[in-house]
Amino acid sequence: MNFHIMTLFPEMIQQSLSNSITGRAESKGYISFNAVNIRDFSNDLKHHKVDDYTYGGGAGMLMQAQPIYDCFLSIKEKIEASGQKSPRVIYVTPQGEVFNQRKAEELAKEDNLVFLCGHYEGVDERVLEEIVTDYISIGDYVLTGGELPAMVMIDAVSRLVPGVLNNNESATTESFHNNLLEYPQYSRPEEWMGKKVPSILLSGDHKKVDEWRLEQSILRTKERRPDLYERWLSENPPKPEKKSRKKHKSSQNNDNILTEERHDEQEYLME
Ligand code: ADE
Repeated sequence: MNFHIMTLFPEMIQQSLSNSITGRAESKGYISFNAVNIRDFSNDLKHHKVDDYTYGGGAGMLMQAQPIYDCFLSIKEKIEASGQKSPRVIYVTPQGEVFNQRKAEELAKEDNLVFLCGHYEGVDERVLEEIVTDYISIGDYVLTGGELPAMVMIDAVSRLVPGVLNNNESATTESFHNNLLEYPQYSRPEEWMGKKVPSILLSGDHKKVDEWRLEQSILRTKERRPDLYERWLSENPPKPEKKSRKKHKSSQNNDNILTEERHDEQEYLME
């Protein structure tokens, strides 16, 4: 996966992403970052101006169309010259659809992604119409520029690219997988500040541990993210109950856990 970032602050991108897991993945060749300075494409050879006043009045400056367009063409031409298809272009903006894990999974299938990071009061609409394929926000709040949102998305997409995470890392971070949050986890010591690690995790019974973790994921999602929980419920409807309503806990499968939870929630939560 090759990430191309059109920005006025290329060092911000390059310096941040060259650390930690994304940095390691880049040096191993699983991903690449190409932060391109929009200012280098300004027609104003003296001051390298890239912004101007807004027609119709209003506060602030707008990023002009021409430097962004030429910057994009230089990226696109290189991609196409290497035999790859024209890339998706993401404009990071609070006006876009809100980014989530599903979007990250969708984007991770691409070979190239181009991000356009805005600054000042925005970008001339005409260049957006010309080059942008996706408008994406990272949440309902406004930041000073598009670099941080672009890096958030790049990080989330990178870890889904095969080879970027090693086995240990990928096994431990599955929140949002299947619309459930991750279960609580514990490390040594067995007791800390009077709090004990749940005994089931010390039992060595992998089946019971898996069942406990699923139950905890469900409870946690329900409590912290009721919106996700509803989505999970609709995608995992409980099977109709058989004769006996109450089953032995250790023989429960997911559906039984759910059924029990829905019909006898209080009992479930007490355990
Ligand atoms: N630019 C400024 N705020 C943003 C946001 N919330 N998401 C994406 N891009 C942005």
